[in-house]
Amino acid sequence: MDGAVAIVLAAGLGERMQAEVPKALMAFDGTTMVARAVERALACPSVASAVVVAPAGWEDPVRSLVRPLGVETIVSGGATRQASVTAALSAVSSDSTRVVCHDAARPLATASLFERVLDALDGWDGVVPVLAMVDTVKRVRDGEVERTEPREALAVAQTPQAFLGSALRAAHERAAREGFEATDDALLLERAGFRVRAIDGEHANLKVTTPEDVRLAEALASPSGSPS
Ligand code: CTP
Ligand code: MG
Repeated sequence: MDGAVAIVLAAGLGERMQAEVPKALMAFDGTTMVARAVERALACPSVASAVVVAPAGWEDPVRSLVRPLGVETIVSGGATRQASVTAALSAVSSDSTRVVCHDAARPLATASLFERVLDALDGWDGVVPVLAMVDTVKRVRDGEVERTEPREALAVAQTPQAFLGSALRAAHERAAREGFEATDDALLLERAGFRVRAIDGEHANLKVTTPEDVRLAEALASPSGSPS
């Protein structure tokens, strides 16, 4: 099978981080989140190349961070994550059989997770890494517990998510036609009737959203923490 293309999403502004620079460009564990995410993607033997989506106006700084890692293609992001993926897809050859979408905000995903989601694609349209819920889940409205949800059937989704390129494109086109906006790509496939497989994610693959998350992720990134 031909090599997969990784789309690394780094075009968010990181408003909840309240930093001087967009979140993906912040210093992280001796590098930046976007560079670490790209490094991990390209360390996966099944990934042939990466397209990085940068915040509008930040294309040059992002290019200088990822070009030394072998990335040729930088794309300007859109107003939403979904628009940023659409922008990236326009730079991905329609011959690309497999595409793996990854958030720069998850710099701790390992090359082995990229390999596992791509391997698991066999016979499916998409693959999403998930973690089972371990906490008891409450539905809360205005500070009052309405009820407790059965957690057995619930899981939290991560990236990287692997897709057949044709299914990802079709799902995005359909969502655009219908004006539907989603926070991850798997949801677009689910609602378009594609079959999405769930496999085990990684506990250390946390989503960096706030300054506290940066400290936690850097602690996990230390040599005694998660492997690369
Ligand atoms: N993202 C993107 N384009 C956007 C919005 C988000 O490429 N218009 C990317 C982010 O760079 C991030 C991922 O999607 O890697 C997940 O988004 P999130 O964690 O919400 O990041 P931000 O949108 O940057 O943060 P915030 O919502 O706090 O502003
Ligand atoms: Mg956001």
